[in-house]
Parts: sequence; structure tokens; C-alpha cells
Amino acid sequence: MSQTTSDTIRPLLARDPHYPRYHFRPAANWLNDPNGLIQWEGVYHLFYQYNPNGPFHRTIHWGHAASRDLVHWEDLPIALTPTPGGPDAGGCWSGCAVNDNGVPTLIYTGVHPQVQCLAVSHDGLRSWEKLPEPVIPAPPADLDLDGFRDPYVWREGDRWLCVIGTGIKGAGGAVLLYESADLRHWTYQGPICVGDPAVNGRIWECPNLFPIGDRWLLLLSPIPLRRSIYLLGSFEDGTFRPGSQTDFDAGGCLYAPQAMRDETGRRLVWGWLWEGRSAEACQRAGWNGVMSLPRQLDLNADGTLRVFPVPELAALRGTHRREIRTDLAGTTPIDGLTGDALELIAEFDVGNRGQAGLAVRRAPDGEEETRVVYDAATRRLSIDRTRSSVDPNVERDIRSAELAVSDGRLTLHLYLDRSVLEVFANERVT
Ligand code: FRU
Repeated sequence: MSQTTSDTIRPLLARDPHYPRYHFRPAANWLNDPNGLIQWEGVYHLFYQYNPNGPFHRTIHWGHAASRDLVHWEDLPIALTPTPGGPDAGGCWSGCAVNDNGVPTLIYTGVHPQVQCLAVSHDGLRSWEKLPEPVIPAPPADLDLDGFRDPYVWREGDRWLCVIGTGIKGAGGAVLLYESADLRHWTYQGPICVGDPAVNGRIWECPNLFPIGDRWLLLLSPIPLRRSIYLLGSFEDGTFRPGSQTDFDAGGCLYAPQAMRDETGRRLVWGWLWEGRSAEACQRAGWNGVMSLPRQLDLNADGTLRVFPVPELAALRGTHRREIRTDLAGTTPIDGLTGDALELIAEFDVGNRGQAGLAVRRAPDGEEETRVVYDAATRRLSIDRTRSSVDPNVERDIRSAELAVSDGRLTLHLYLDRSVLEVFANERVT
């Protein structure tokens, strides 16, 4: 498979200093959620919510890209286009992909109203044939719901299970469970979990439910939280019993993550990284939204979630430089370390009261910079974007997350990619 994110196919890559160099996104226009993640005969397929008609959320299609190594992506033809007069005429919204006994199958939400649709491929995931009618044509009649979307399907024994995101009016965000023998006829089983709007939102979008270690993980994107969360708990007899609730990403711009199990059994996740600039700025730029790097999930020995960049990303490395510093105080520039596409691994001994971190994209006079700082006294990792841009229309805030550092050792693993910064702290907080 060839690498196609070249300057010829991605003209914006050459001209636009914000356009990422190694994060995936289509050549132009709008992108949101990752969809239909699947590895098929060794090749990873990444579908995504895509508007081919501009850098804004409308006329939602499924874009499609594929990769053998999780690093270099080849653009493939649009997978799903709304069918005029069909159940997805108003948009092909989020969903998943499964292997139905050798047949690649997509299950996704058609709009309007929100119904669940199915499409299959007979040419190796290139083109997709839709069923003319939805496979779940309406939400359960006995519930008063807000939203009914984003099916996530998996196989358990001889049956298929599907969870769908919604909100129960007067109650809270909810995940509904369905069961099927053939992916075409579904029986409603009931809600597996209902939230509390004061804690975790009114509508739950993009649910993902899967076993991890000896637990089950429920990944959710609640409205109006504007961030994704996960609940670690148990799932038995159609009921999910949550233990802890944690932000899946504390940076405030990752949403609608989707997880997949690859052929080696790894659990991988991508999320939509949304814009911190205005809609007008995106209109001028011609693009909006970036896909996160692939992240791998696991459990730590203490039962908490371990999140780390996939090892394949090492293929992006160029020149390597190592620095050992014992004299750090205030902001100390590291001479000659510049660039807008960098992978930085910084190890600090923060003791139990110190502060440590990195500033990136720093102007020589310090007028612009983005700071990633850990404070051992408050045990919080923060990302400070208050001076990330001199443009007054750019979102500028400080986001933080709790991070306990047991032996005073903090490892920050940063991927800087022009306007995108992803941070992994001790493989626990992103
Ligand atoms: C999440 C979401 C999904 C929906 C899709 C529409 O970002 O709102 O719930 O299916 O995006 O593009």
C-alpha cells in the first residue's frame, strides 16, 4: 500500500501551517467521528463522518481510508452516500463494521428519523450495497427518547449484540441493548445502563462496550459534556454496573472515540479531534477536524485504564536527539530543538511537591506557547492553551486531569503535529 498523504494529494499540507503532517484527515472538508473500524485480511480500515461539500457538518457521508501499518493511510472512495428517498437520506451517521461470516458489513444510523441501517461489500470493502429498509426501523415504543443512534455491534457466541446511544427524557443518557441472530432482525432487550444528567449528560452518543482484562469498559460521548468518558464496570445479564467514571481524554477536544479489536487481539481507539478555531477560519482554510493517532488500551496492574500510542508510530521517527538536564528552573529553552512535527518523550523526577513540564510551539519572545505542566502537590496534569495563539478567536483555556505519580516519576509522551498536540502522561492520562 502506498503512502498518499503527499504534497500532491494534500495541497493544503504544503500551504497551510496548521494542516497536520502525520495525523489522518481527508484532503479537504469536514471530518468528525471515526466509524467502522475493522482489520480485514491484515489491512486496517478507518471510516469517518465526512462532508464532501465543505468544511462544516452537513450532508454526512462515510469517508474511507486504509492502512497496513497504522501510520500511512491510503484514501479510498467514499463508502456511504445518503440515498435520496432512502432511510439515510438525511445523512449516514455513525456506526460500526463487523465480519459477518466473511462478508464485511456496516451497521450505521440513517437520518431522518434516526434508524439503524445495514450495508455489505462484495468487493473487499471498496463499494457498499445498502439494504433498502432499515434493520432497526424505530426506537422502542415504550420509551420517550432523545436520539437513537451510533450502533456498536459485537459477536457473543451464536448471537450478535448491539448497543445504541440515546437519552431517556426525564431520566438521563442511556444505552439500549439489542440482540440478533443474523444482523437483519433485532430484538430489543432493554437499557443496559441509564445515567444521571447532573453527572454524565442528557444524551449518550457513540457507546462502545467491550471486555478489558476482567472488567467491561463502556465508552460514551455525552451531550452536553463535550468530552468523552469511560465507565469501568461489569456487564452481565444485559445490565452494565458502572464502577468508576473517568474522562477518556482531558484535553477538551477529543470526542466520539471508537474502539476496535485488531487481528492480534489489541484494543485500539481513535477519536475525532475537533477544532479550536472559528467556523469562519475553517471555512477559509477549507478543512475542519482531525483524527487522533491510534491509541492502545489495556488495564494497569491496579485495575485502572492504560492508554498508550501504538508502537507502530515509531515508524514516523526521524533524527533522534537526547538531552539530560539537571539544571531546569523556570522555562529553559532547549537549544536548537525546534520543529512543528515532533515526538517528545520527557522523563521527570517530580518528587512529591514539584512542578515539571514542557512548553511547545513557543515563539522566540514567548508571546505564544502551549504548556503541559504536572503539579505534584495537587496531583494534576494540565494543558494550558491560554497563550497558544495570538488570534483572539481561538479557544484558549486550561484543562486538567488528576494523575497520581507514585514514585515521583513522570513520563510525558508528546506528539506535536503542527496545530495538533497529543499528550500521554504515564500511560494513564491523555
Ligand atoms: C457524534 C455524533 C453522532 C452522530 C454523528 C453525526 O459526534 O453526533 O452521535 O452519529 O456525530 O455526524
